[in-house]
Order: sequence, then C-alpha cells, then structure tokens
Amino acid sequence: MKRMTVYLIIAGVTGLSLSGCGFSREREQASSLKIGISVYDQYDTFVSEEISRLKSYAQEMEQEWDMTITLEVVDASQNQLTQNDQMDDFIKRGFDIACINLVDRTDASTIIEKARSADVPVIFFNRELVEEDLERWDKLYYVGADAFESGILQGEILADACEEDFSSIDKNGDGILQYVMLEGEAGHQDSIVRTLYVIDTIKERGYRVEKLGDEIANWNRAQAEAKMNQFWKSFGEQIEVVLTNNDDMALGAVDALKKSCGTRAEARTAGTPWPVIIGIDGTEVGLEAVQSKELLGTVLNDSKGQAEGMLELAHSVVFGTELPEEIELLDNRYIRLPYQKVTYENVNQIIWDMQMVTK
Ligand code: BGC
Repeated sequence: MKRMTVYLIIAGVTGLSLSGCGFSREREQASSLKIGISVYDQYDTFVSEEISRLKSYAQEMEQEWDMTITLEVVDASQNQLTQNDQMDDFIKRGFDIACINLVDRTDASTIIEKARSADVPVIFFNRELVEEDLERWDKLYYVGADAFESGILQGEILADACEEDFSSIDKNGDGILQYVMLEGEAGHQDSIVRTLYVIDTIKERGYRVEKLGDEIANWNRAQAEAKMNQFWKSFGEQIEVVLTNNDDMALGAVDALKKSCGTRAEARTAGTPWPVIIGIDGTEVGLEAVQSKELLGTVLNDSKGQAEGMLELAHSVVFGTELPEEIELLDNRYIRLPYQKVTYENVNQIIWDMQMVTK
C-alpha cells in the first residue's frame, strides 16, 4: 500500500511544524498531495463556495509547492452512513489526509475510529464536532470560525443602523423592534449560537425587541421563502426586521417579499414598508444583495480564508512543514478565521478582497 513513509522526528524542529507527530512524509519525496473531501450536502451555497476556493488555491499552490495536488470531492447527501463509507474509500485508495464536513456533528466517532486505525489524519471543517471528540486523537483538526462572533456582528449591524435612523426601522413608532427569525439546522453550532448572540447584542445596545415568529429553514433558500410567506400572511407589515442565520435564508425572505409586494423600490413607491433583512456568510449572491440594498447587511464568513487555511494545514500535517506565520493553530488543533461586518458602505471593498469581480 502507498501510504506514509514513517518519518523520524528531526531534533530541533520547532514552532508550528507538525513534523514531530510521526506521520509526515519526507519533503524530498513529496511530489503529490492527495486529499479526500466529503461535504455534507453539495447544494449548500456556502460550503460549495468554500470548495471552489479550495480548488483555486490548490491550483495556485501546486506551482509554489512543486507538486501535484489531487482533491477528490464527494457529496454525503446529508447521510452520515454514506459519509462513513466515503472515509473507508479514502483510506482504501491511499489518500494522505481527509477533510470532512460532517453530516452529523454529534456523530463523528465512526470516522475518527476509521482514521485512527488507518493513521489517516482528518481536518473537520465548517460543522464543528464537540471538543471531546476532537481530542480523541492528535491527528484531528478543525477549520472554521467562532459562531458567537457572527451573531454579535449581525446584532451590531442592526444596532448601528438603528443609531443612524431608528424611525426608518421602527416603522410603527412604538419604540420596539418587531422581528422574525429564520434559523439554520437544529443542532448546528452556528444556528444555536447566532440566534442567541444576535438578540443579546441588540438588547445590550439598548434596543427593545419583540419576537413575532421563529422558524427553522435549514440554511435553505426555498424553505426560508416558504416560512417567510407564512410570517407575512400572519404578521404582514408588523414585521420590521428579519434576522437570519445565513444569506441563503435572507435571500429566501427577499424572494417571498418580492412575490408578495414587488421589489423593494416598488414596495416603497406603493407605500408598503419592507422590513430590514440581515444575513450571514457574504456568499456571492449575498454580497450582491447588499450592493442592491435588498439586504441591510451580512457578516462575512471567510470561506476564502478557511479554504486556504485548510489546504495549508493539510500540507503541513502531511509533510511536516511549518504553517505560514499568518495562520494560527490554536491548541494545536483549531484554525478559526474572524468574521467581518458587511454593509452597503464596505461591500465593494469586501468583494474586492474576496477576489470576486466587482460588478
Ligand atoms: C453557514 C451556512 C451553511 C452551514 C453549513 C454555516 O457556517 O453560515 O450558510 O449552510 O454552515 O454547515
């Protein structure tokens, strides 16, 4: 079988080098890096953007590292058993490392056991497993972001806008923000934490809120549209704010509003008050919606930084090289990229930074 040449720990290797772990391939022999990647659902907008960024970065780094990088991406189609089988396949086919976007973040044990017995390191990403699971073996890592930060920043976007012009948001003038919430998957760390922190932040900034409705729409645009339709039927213009755990659901809310009362501009002309809508992610479509003011804002979930961090970490783990200085490996296991507020004022800059074509 292909797998690893056992590597003797070289005395004097310091810093963030992972070469002391006993599984790195000798650098001189490195001419290829084979990474098996399993995503929980290939139709998830954020995750698929992260994967395309990973592919572009891998192309760039093939030259820099002078090696062939193979990325095999498979879809677990929301089935944990399928994903467990995909891990078996990566092992059987001699992949150097696996990157796993868990279907069920509370059910990582089968993958961990398979990885450990075959000595194939795993980088989990985006769907964070519990710390005890990550600690079960020293060749397990996580790349993502701190969910609470995104909730806080989403709350700040609303509070900043209220500071600027409260009456344009508090349409009925009762001094309270009537809101509806569209949540991601139940049990996902980002849904739970974002939902809590956004409201805490708004209250901490001194604004009163009243929840009219709260529904799970599983990160999904069509489901969010359906839920927003129900909200609109029940509460209509009482809704002043739509808070959502991600951009796709924010755009689902926009879709519903457009069908009920036309575009934001048409609704304005007709005197129908559109609520403010805020997302999280800064996906390509999300950023466009901030540019067109359909969304008041979003919070950038740095898919580019996460993808780059993941590839750098994979390389470092497999070949025992040091991580670039700007990448911090917390507790020798975690890479977490910071979130960033995005509003109409800085959206073009963010698009530029994310190396998208500015429209
Ligand atoms: C993103 C969502 C995505 C989810 C998938 C979250 O971090 O914000 O857009 O659907 O991850 O796990």
